[in-house]
Amino acid sequence: TSDQFLAGCKVVVTAGGTRERLDPVRYLTNDSSGKMGTALANVAAAAGAQVTLVTTAAQPVLPAVQQVAVASAAEMKAAVEAHFAAADIVIMAAAVADYRPAQAADHKLKKTGEAGMTLPLVQNPDILKALGAAKTHQFVAGFAAETDHVLANAAAKLARKHVDLLIANQVGAGRGFNADDNEVVLLWPDRAPQPLARASKLTLASQILRQIQEVRG
Ligand code: C5P
Repeated sequence: TSDQFLAGCKVVVTAGGTRERLDPVRYLTNDSSGKMGTALANVAAAAGAQVTLVTTAAQPVLPAVQQVAVASAAEMKAAVEAHFAAADIVIMAAAVADYRPAQAADHKLKKTGEAGMTLPLVQNPDILKALGAAKTHQFVAGFAAETDHVLANAAAKLARKHVDLLIANQVGAGRGFNADDNEVVLLWPDRAPQPLARASKLTLASQILRQIQEVRG
């Protein structure tokens, strides 16, 4: 029997890149595979938590994980907010699109006949920032995928989004997105940064969740 270190805990995790529709057959998205979020959900379930995984991805999950399939940031926000009040731990591992097309056409967009085309975008709501502002008893964690100035950018995000933990990782050049392993630094509001050595996403998920439990006391 495995160590049930999250017995009785309600955990909400998001995973994958959001898909922002232009028209019925096209969308904007990113390279996130959903592997890190899915690993967190599976490890939490194996550790006895009641887990809701709000995901855009189709990664294998344990039967005990309650999956909520979403596509856009707006759908993800609604699903996370529906489960927030009852949650003890919320981890936003999803790569939420910063912008979406200003309009989702209800028909396939046609070529304009011009050489170029400009697509108007509007900003998506920051789900994590809203959770950080709304949290009462919940432990709220986010990720920061950075290509440069990883620690400085992530530390700024920790403060700006008012979260309890920011997990920073370097992406680009074959690192982070869609890989089976990862290398991260845990940033806490009032503890020293904690680097976790390169390991499988499953191993890192276990280390991250154990650290969260230790800090929650
Ligand atoms: O600001 P940035 O996108 O780098 O922040 C990353 C963190 O914020 C991730 O945890 C991501 O899930 C979350 N996020 C969000 N809503 C957004 C953008 C990012 O919840 N619109």
